[in-house]
Amino acid sequence: AGVFTYDPGFTSTAACDSTITYIDGEAGVLLHRGYPIDQLAKDSHYLEVCYLLLYGELPSAAQLEEFETLVTRHTMIHEQMHNFFRGFRRDAHPMATMVGVVGAMSAFYHDSTDINDEHQREVASIRLIAKMPTIAAMAYKYSIGQPFVYPRNDLDYASNFLRMCFSVPAEEYEVNPILARAMDRIFTLHADHEQNASTSTVRLASSSGANPFACIAAGIACLWGPAHGGANQACLEMLREIGTPDRIPEFIARAKDKNDPFRLMGFGHRVYKNFDPRAKVMKESADEVLELLGIENNPTLQVAKELERVALEDPYFAEKKLYPNVDFYSGIILDAMGFPTSMFTPIFALARTVGWVSQWKEQLADPQLKIGRPRQLYLGATQRDYVDIENR
Ligand code: CMC
Repeated sequence: AGVFTYDPGFTSTAACDSTITYIDGEAGVLLHRGYPIDQLAKDSHYLEVCYLLLYGELPSAAQLEEFETLVTRHTMIHEQMHNFFRGFRRDAHPMATMVGVVGAMSAFYHDSTDINDEHQREVASIRLIAKMPTIAAMAYKYSIGQPFVYPRNDLDYASNFLRMCFSVPAEEYEVNPILARAMDRIFTLHADHEQNASTSTVRLASSSGANPFACIAAGIACLWGPAHGGANQACLEMLREIGTPDRIPEFIARAKDKNDPFRLMGFGHRVYKNFDPRAKVMKESADEVLELLGIENNPTLQVAKELERVALEDPYFAEKKLYPNVDFYSGIILDAMGFPTSMFTPIFALARTVGWVSQWKEQLADPQLKIGRPRQLYLGATQRDYVDIENR
């Protein structure tokens, strides 16, 4: 007793065992239930990957159909929850709205908050995966002063989300299949990433027995930071600020300067010391989407590619093994789709919900489950006597 390992930032602590996601950071490998991410992103689709993460195996055609129907039937949110959105300022960041509204779900879906009931756990999982696109789209619509768009259950997951974001009552809205495919791929690439900060937050919250909606709200709050999911917004804003390739050296110099807090957003990773395999697929996808939309000369994409090239040739980034991560190219695609930068992190949150939920379920099924309770290295004052205020 009294002997602890001191590991700030958990750089060398495994806090759980898991069978969901495997990362080899040196080799740049990411597997979900054994399947490589690039195969899943190219040949599978998001809801099938959700099934795989949740249940451990790829579904049969009948299982997939049943799962998709189940998710589709839960896309609406309780009508009274609309009032929560209306309580926010119009200029609230959609992530702020999402933290609040998802937390509020525990006040609406009482019949799926008992974590000891397996059926309720299942219902909570499906509700979260099904309703998150509706909530993210509503947060967006509210922020731009447009009416909420109800989900359409005959559309696939990604198309439904795009329609809820971009359709207006005054006009017919046709979902562009190229954009729907790209959206689905972005969801797939963000679905899970083992014990990252937000997933660990969900697990820690859940270890106390908190209800699933409260746990996922905690995950969303953690994801928001610019070192984690907030990096996609920060990255596109950085690329725009750089503006033209001739300004790249100035920003590279700033990123290397220890007295400047600036970092190259979308670069570096705690686990990957090689290319992030998600970034590779994302880059290909950005090229593909922009070409299909006829905007391959997009200046932000040109800056991103040149920045990547210059950084990868720079000894600073090579020595520290800093490579582009998943957030480096995603913003370019989302921007081309018409999303404002403030929606980038909410999209990450909706896609990551299945990862949080899968890890939450796995943790609750663990018979060894204990409350998460790290220790500390105390560096404060030793014991001393209280001094009355007039004698201080
Ligand atoms: N630009 C410049 N220098 C960097 C960067 C960067 N993006 N990332 C790390 N470094 C340097 C850092 O200054 C440190 O140098 P030194 O050893 O001389 O002090 C060294 O590389 C190691 O960095 P660290 O901060 O100790 O590494 P970490 O594992 O704690 O942090 C990270 C990982 C992702 C927070 C960090 O690389 C970073 O801030 N990157 C930019 C933000 C970003 O893109 N985040 C998205 C991560 S991937 C998706 C997600 O999680 O949402």
